[in-house]
Amino acid sequence: MTPMPATAAVRVRRAELSDLDDLVALEESSFATDRLSRAQYRRHLDSETAQVLVASANHRRFLGTAVVFFRKGTRVARLYSIATRAEARGKGVGSALLEAAEQTARRRRCKVLRLEVRTDNEAAISLYERLGYERIGRYKRYYGDGADAWRYEKAVA
Ligand SMILES: CC(C)(COP(=O)(O)OP(=O)(O)OC[C@H]1O[C@@H](n2cnc3c(N)ncnc32)[C@H](O)[C@@H]1OP(=O)(O)O)[C@@H](O)C(=O)NCCC(=O)NCCS
Repeated sequence: MTPMPATAAVRVRRAELSDLDDLVALEESSFATDRLSRAQYRRHLDSETAQVLVASANHRRFLGTAVVFFRKGTRVARLYSIATRAEARGKGVGSALLEAAEQTARRRRCKVLRLEVRTDNEAAISLYERLGYERIGRYKRYYGDGADAWRYEKAVA
């Protein structure tokens, strides 16, 4: 893929069936453990309790994704996953996806968006803190490879 110009406008839309190949490829290239499978993505596309978002810009149909989960009876939404294509990082795609995830949570009448992040994931932590997420705790050995997670949340209502 040719480098993305820093000025390209990022759009965020709902993921469709035709995004499945890109979703699975990005998941595999972005995460070493705790990956979503193709079957799980497939289920989340049609689910009432999940929203899969996809970022695009100009003629690039697929630059990244964010997955948000909702549960009945709670106004707390959960950002389950966010990833952008390696060639597109550092250009605002992750920020656009996170803002869209917040908007989705707000539309579903959630008050708070929560997430977990590996304690050594500096790029993601810097993105969350820049967008106003506050660290609320730590889960020991949260990930499949034994890594710890920070928990973050932001009031979105
Ligand atoms: C985290 C991720 C989604 C960010 O996406 P992105 O498209 O680069 O996001 P943006 O361009 O909007 O912002 C990236 C921020 O990270 C910073 N950043 C990028 N690489 C970095 C690094 N190696 N170390 C520290 N900060 C870094 C950028 O400077 C920018 O922060 P700033 O705007 O305050 O300068 C992307 O790096 C990614 O997909 N990583 C792999 C998957 C992952 O770890 N997901 C998070 C799971 S919790």
